[in-house]
Amino acid sequence: MTVLDVSGLRKAFGGLTAVDEVSFGVEAGQLFAIIGPNGAGKTTCFNMVGGQLRPDRGSVRLAGRDITGEAPRRIWRLGVGRTFQVAATFGSMTVAENVQMAFLSHHGRLRALLPSARRLYREQALAVLERVGMAGQAERQCGLLAYGDIKRVELAIALAHQPKLLLMDEPTAGMAPRERIELMALTAGIVRESGISVLFTEHDMDVVFAHADRLLVLDRGRQVATGTPAEVRDDAEVQRIYLGGAGAEAAARQIEARAGEQLPGERAEGEAR
Ligand SMILES: Nc1ncnc2c1ncn2[C@@H]1O[C@H](COP(=O)(O)OP(=O)(O)OP(=O)(O)O)[C@@H](O)[C@H]1O
Ligand SMILES: [Mg+2]
Repeated sequence: MTVLDVSGLRKAFGGLTAVDEVSFGVEAGQLFAIIGPNGAGKTTCFNMVGGQLRPDRGSVRLAGRDITGEAPRRIWRLGVGRTFQVAATFGSMTVAENVQMAFLSHHGRLRALLPSARRLYREQALAVLERVGMAGQAERQCGLLAYGDIKRVELAIALAHQPKLLLMDEPTAGMAPRERIELMALTAGIVRESGISVLFTEHDMDVVFAHADRLLVLDRGRQVATGTPAEVRDDAEVQRIYLGGAGAEAAARQIEARAGEQLPGERAEGEAR
């Protein structure tokens, strides 16, 4: 099933065309990357999908429904979650409480039940924290967490809203290389087991080629290529514009390392998840 269908999207700022005729589709359970140099138009694409920006032209459909130009809050309600580059947790509350608040908010009960928030949705919050590897720190104050752990809590908060599609604009920005790999491996695992779709951007090509099922390459607003990591790697224009010699080699290594892994949907019947 196509979760996100973007067609002919365009956005200009004054005389600058930031995104020009961009079209792509994201299937259920897919990890889809938008890559490209600084200023390529990646964040602008995210903002048009999430409703923060209204496209000049083109359409955005979520599970078949036209959401073009809808308000961010409405798009969020329809199942598009988002993590932000600047982590958005409440530092004075515990990890578990932050996620419990997300559940309250998801169920539209935040205002009515805030006084008893500490007791509600606790089991659900702990289950989500388990999935992101943060159950052991559930009672710590968010303000005391290491940066990489805050990013995991953010992911838990986004998951509490049970999105169909999760938008992650540079989720690993500011993280050490090892943490980057771990966070994206974790996200990929969650995508595989839950069937949600993730649209993300990332500058580290090792991370992109290790985890993305498909990718779209932008350059100065223009859609240069779309395809599997192997297809994109082999595209001559992508190599010229974007990857360069060293980048292409890193991509090739990642694709080879991945070749032995199972793809989603290829899991044998009855096999444990
Ligand atoms: N609100 C705005 N007003 C004017 N110009 C903008 C605005 N937002 C983005 N731009 C311009 O549009 C182009 C695309 O920007 P965008 O932020 O989408 O790029 P990006 O691919 O996300 O880059 P980066 O990798 O640096 O995050 C850039 O030239 C940027 O300066
Ligand atoms: Mg950006």
